[in-house]
Amino acid sequence: MNDSTSFPERTPKAVHIPVLLREVLQHLDLQPGLTVVDGTVGAGGHSSQILKRIGPTGRLIGLDRDPYMLGWAAKKLEAPNCQLVHASYAQMRSVLDDLGIERVDRILLDIGLSSDQLAADDRGFSYQASGPLDLRFDTTQGEPAWKWLQKTGLAELQEILDNYGEEPFARKIAERIVQQQPVKPIRTAQDLSEVVQSALPASISEHARRDPVIRVFQALRIAVNQELLQLETVLTGVLANCLAPGGIVVIISFHSLEDRQVKQAFREPAVWHNLTSKPVSATPQEQRANPRSRSAKLRSARKL
Ligand SMILES: C[S@@+](CC[C@H](N)C(=O)[O-])C[C@H]1O[C@@H](n2cnc3c(N)ncnc32)[C@H](O)[C@@H]1O
Repeated sequence: MNDSTSFPERTPKAVHIPVLLREVLQHLDLQPGLTVVDGTVGAGGHSSQILKRIGPTGRLIGLDRDPYMLGWAAKKLEAPNCQLVHASYAQMRSVLDDLGIERVDRILLDIGLSSDQLAADDRGFSYQASGPLDLRFDTTQGEPAWKWLQKTGLAELQEILDNYGEEPFARKIAERIVQQQPVKPIRTAQDLSEVVQSALPASISEHARRDPVIRVFQALRIAVNQELLQLETVLTGVLANCLAPGGIVVIISFHSLEDRQVKQAFREPAVWHNLTSKPVSATPQEQRANPRSRSAKLRSARKL
């Protein structure tokens, strides 16, 4: 299954820096021989270190919704005891069933977007991208964001920008997007950036105008990929059904709504022994070296 030719080839080299790497490894408490699922394997940053610690007697199963990320991971994680599968972490139970694995010892989820996806001009994740506004992790399913936007009404759009982006100008931006569609349909990431910018009051400084644009892209990405639903699915049953008793799950989230979901799930005393009463954040040093780590929150729990 870990055959690099079965996933699309991506060049140049992956640039993503794994977030909270030291803390992830500490919380996972890895030993040789363990079976681990990395549910968001990305380009394999965390996983390559996991593989080293579980050794040749361990087993690693890496999942990702994005087939392009698996192309990178396949190159980095070439080992007979590593299997990569194109699937959502919400499908983890059926992936393990297919592989004949009843329970695993450790699970890692590092949810959200990778810097490699952000850097890919043809995916539309970056507001500066000249390519189509796609925003899907899994480009083999569903429809790109530019098509989805054409069907989305004002009320729904405003709610998405409000809830997922916590965007103060949600109403104005949603109105401008909806008004713009019949005049000049939004097709690219740059088109969307321009429309968002045009909805902002002129009094907002040049520097501050970037933040609403980033929040809009984040909100639409969460909506297009149904990210909160995926997380809810894995938290309400899937993780507990995949982990062996005493097994550990570590989750890194980048959005307050996601962190809240994780926090609440780990408070279920019949299922979990919560290992992090407060979320773990990146050290100031890591935050300086990797700005992406600033919003990262790590929580972990042991299955009873
Ligand atoms: C922050 S990156 C992971 C980076 C990885 N830990 C590393 O060190 O290289 C998040 C990854 O999760 C993937 N992803 C997002 N939602 C997913 C889901 N529901 N199931 C599986 N993968 C998902 C994205 O495609 C992306 O590759």
